[in-house]
Amino acid sequence: MPLLFGTAEFNEKEHLTIGGCDTAVLAEKYGTPLFVYDVAHIRQRARGFKQTFNSLGVKNKVIYAGKAFCCIAMYKLLEEEGLGCDVVSAGEIYTAIKGGMSPDNIEFHGNNKTKEELVYAVEQGVGTIIIDNFYEIDLLSEILKGKDKKQKVMFRITPGVDAQTHDYILTGQVDSKFGFDVNSGKATEALEKILADEHLILQGAHCHIGSQIFSAEGFLAAVEKMMLILNEWKNQFDYTVNILNMGGGFGVKYTESDDPLEPEVFVKAIVNAVKAQCELLDYSFPEIWIEPGRSIIAEAGTTIYTIGSQKVIPDVRHYISVDGGMGDNIRPALYDAKYDGFLANRISTEKPEEVRIVGKYCESGDVLIKEIDLPPVEAGDLFAITSTGAYGYSMANNYNRNVKPAVVFVENGQDKLVIRRETYEDLIALDCE
Ligand code: LLP
Repeated sequence: MPLLFGTAEFNEKEHLTIGGCDTAVLAEKYGTPLFVYDVAHIRQRARGFKQTFNSLGVKNKVIYAGKAFCCIAMYKLLEEEGLGCDVVSAGEIYTAIKGGMSPDNIEFHGNNKTKEELVYAVEQGVGTIIIDNFYEIDLLSEILKGKDKKQKVMFRITPGVDAQTHDYILTGQVDSKFGFDVNSGKATEALEKILADEHLILQGAHCHIGSQIFSAEGFLAAVEKMMLILNEWKNQFDYTVNILNMGGGFGVKYTESDDPLEPEVFVKAIVNAVKAQCELLDYSFPEIWIEPGRSIIAEAGTTIYTIGSQKVIPDVRHYISVDGGMGDNIRPALYDAKYDGFLANRISTEKPEEVRIVGKYCESGDVLIKEIDLPPVEAGDLFAITSTGAYGYSMANNYNRNVKPAVVFVENGQDKLVIRRETYEDLIALDCE
């Protein structure tokens, strides 16, 4: 059985439908590869996080990590759902504002924000800048002094937690390029420096322990570590945070063997851990912010490809090529990420055999699915890869001068083009003679 998410199902024509839209029709209309996003699923995920906080009576902000996937329509959707956004470049700030995101709901991350980017953020009224290092404290302070402005900030702390999970991207451990390290005392030094700066209004502390995390344990360890240091700072400097930002990283399902917790479970675990620590340490309960990216958008996205050539090497392997690959999904090549896929234009009862799904890029590493059982397929069949919504389009590239695919949002039987497919003219638009 294919792994179907959200509103995905097969219709009477045996075509995959998402959001009530026939993907074979969408493929015809927009071409393939095509990213199809199930808007109802995005909304459900966004609400899942928000409503859990609200039902627990906890002041919160759910800040979508735009790096997972963003475009103007996505920011509009986030605004509708009452989410903020986390950006990591001036380009993301620009897109968010163009998408109607209120600047106050934007938080700006990054380990090497340039002076131009910080100036831009301040001028645009970005709500929170998350300071990552000493260089940035000085740079931002200098910019604010020049403009005679004040800026709400938080600072990023690496709590020294190794989030033990399956295939994730660690960031909270001591040896990380991000944030101020607690163990060496750098975080405390940063706190003193920020508090002493009249242009910086410190709102609280942030940490992000990694990505694609499947259990609550890493978050619980991080809460404990964070509350311990916050309590030290309360005793030493009489400083109490208004906001504790626990970052993102909540895991999602890519294949049958992935078993992530529901967003609600993560939120409850974090809230309960903060409550317990606050009671233990007699610390006043802070507002809690989180920054989910993947867990809001991954499962909502499906990529539709058209099957082309096949190569059978007897007793070795059966290759099936699709019309996309590492240009629209670099994750298998980069992280050895696993995905699930299936025929989207018919249901076959023929005997499946093990095949490898590869892309059209001029590189042997351009593999989308290393091993999958599929019934016999033909050129022109549609192949769907599920759970491609996060870090697929956002990491897309023009390798071999292939154009980037279109992206459509589907909901209640309506499809809406939100990013058009690139053209050959787009490919040479920046070239100078
Ligand atoms: N907050 C911060 C500070 C982050 O660095 C990240 C991700 C997030 C939130 C969102 O994490 P999420 O909830 O999406 O896991 N390209 C990689 C993922 C890199 C994640 C970078 N930071 C991938 O394709 O798996």
